Amino acid sequence: MADDQLQTLLAELDALKGAFEAAIAEVASEQDLERLRVKYLGRKGELTLLFKRMGSLPPEGRPAFGEALNRLKSEFHERLQAARGALETEETGDEALDLTLPGTAHTLGYKNPLLQVMEEIREIFISMGFTVETGPLVETDYYNFEALNIPADHPSRDLQDTFYLQDSDLLLRTHTSPVQIRTMEKQQPPVRIIAPGRCFRKDTPDASHSPEFHQVEGLVVDEGISLADLKGTLLAFARKLFGPSIQVRFRPSFFPFTEPSAEYDFSCVICGGKGCRTCKYTGWLEISGAGMVDPAVFGFVGYDYEKYTGFAWGMGVERIAMMRYQIDDIRHFYDNDIRFLRQF
Ligand code: PHE
Repeated sequence: MADDQLQTLLAELDALKGAFEAAIAEVASEQDLERLRVKYLGRKGELTLLFKRMGSLPPEGRPAFGEALNRLKSEFHERLQAARGALETEETGDEALDLTLPGTAHTLGYKNPLLQVMEEIREIFISMGFTVETGPLVETDYYNFEALNIPADHPSRDLQDTFYLQDSDLLLRTHTSPVQIRTMEKQQPPVRIIAPGRCFRKDTPDASHSPEFHQVEGLVVDEGISLADLKGTLLAFARKLFGPSIQVRFRPSFFPFTEPSAEYDFSCVICGGKGCRTCKYTGWLEISGAGMVDPAVFGFVGYDYEKYTGFAWGMGVERIAMMRYQIDDIRHFYDNDIRFLRQF
């Protein structure tokens, strides 16, 4: 009789085990797992209920049943533990550690093509024996105009062209020429410098104008310097930058601080001078102004204009960069569009 009772309960244990096996095979989530744990091992779970029925057994049957129950309990525990481990590797494991996947690329910044061209220009002039000077972007009227022999009624002094700082004699420099004055004030000839930097003019932006732009000024002063030296210097520079077939030409012009003055052009780097859209079918591309330093300027800095002569030039960096990289709109340099910048 007692044996029969024990056999019945052990059979129930077997059935319970079967049901558990079937259920755990279906588990697909943490929630499923937890539901299963509560159903079989919880305080009111199937195993607990069976433990309570131990009292209905005669004493001699209890150890065997207790042992079977305990074995089942730890087996369920182990199975649940294993199932939880399997779920976790599925979620975070193998796939996240796929070593064949490409890594995350860290993009580096790109140097603006203007800066790159400025550096090239610097290197070329340094190789020709020039040193590099800089000056402030916020200038006084004296350095930007007065000492450059630009008279009070000169159009470039107009409010329409120059950014003046309110209630002061200060302005944003409209060219790099004030660095000529600052350099000559602090040293005696011989002078052989370039002055690269930013300039500002009240221009409405369009394909060829920007209120912010860059120039590389040049100044050479010594005994016996001539216009031929100016032309030779610009030609040597142009050929180092664009190759041996480039030509330079001067067109008569006027600047208050040079006499004689010229505008200078490079032969078109796109068509080689034959004429194309970029050079508007002239074969030439305008770079900037140049000339022999006006003796009046030497007067402002206290140089002996009987003894010394010199030449100076300006150079539009944007223009040169546009020629170099065939860029058709100056505004690209200032848009900070990464798709543009990463090409250089
Ligand atoms: N400063 C002049 C400009 O910005 C260029 C220039 C420089 C002309 C030096 C002559 C000599 O237009």
